[in-house]
Amino acid sequence: MTNYSDTVTYALVVNASKILDMNIQALLFEFGKYWVLTIAAEKYAALLHSAGKGLREFLVNLPNFHSRVMLYYPEITPPEFKVMELSDTTLELHYFSKRPGLHPFVSGILEGLSTFFETPARIELIETSMEDEYHKSVFSLHF
Ligand code: HEM
Repeated sequence: MTNYSDTVTYALVVNASKILDMNIQALLFEFGKYWVLTIAAEKYAALLHSAGKGLREFLVNLPNFHSRVMLYYPEITPPEFKVMELSDTTLELHYFSKRPGLHPFVSGILEGLSTFFETPARIELIETSMEDEYHKSVFSLHF
């Protein structure tokens, strides 16, 4: 429950990947699912439910979500999101972070949220790039 260097986080990921004999992308993906379905569902279910009645509404509100988290943890450097509602059945989610390589974690979180909100969705990574000093990833979600 305190801030620590990202070097520690990345070292944990590398060592867990060696111990579990799992590649880093798969490990981050599984950790994202575990984080939503075990940690957030147990500790922050009310916060998740307060941000949307279902997956789509939750994702439309996601750009503001970490501002609420910052009321509890003001020292964090949160990710940033933009959401485009392309049609009734399709959303595009843009994820920005100064930290590299975390898009598989986001994929895992999105899969976990689809289970949490009981909304089946097809989630695809369609772009990774750099925009200014931000690592940018774009996901499409079909409901
Ligand atoms: C109850 C729900 C949530 C809480 C309490 C929470 C809290 C946090 C905290 C404390 C951090 C660490 C930031 C830092 O130490 O600088 C973080 C990072 C992150 N969160 Fe959340 N979060 C939640 C939900 C979500 C959701 C729904 C997403 C959706 C994709 C998400 C995506 C991320 C990502 C990708 C990071 C890594 C940091 C980065 O990309 O730079 N989180 N979150």
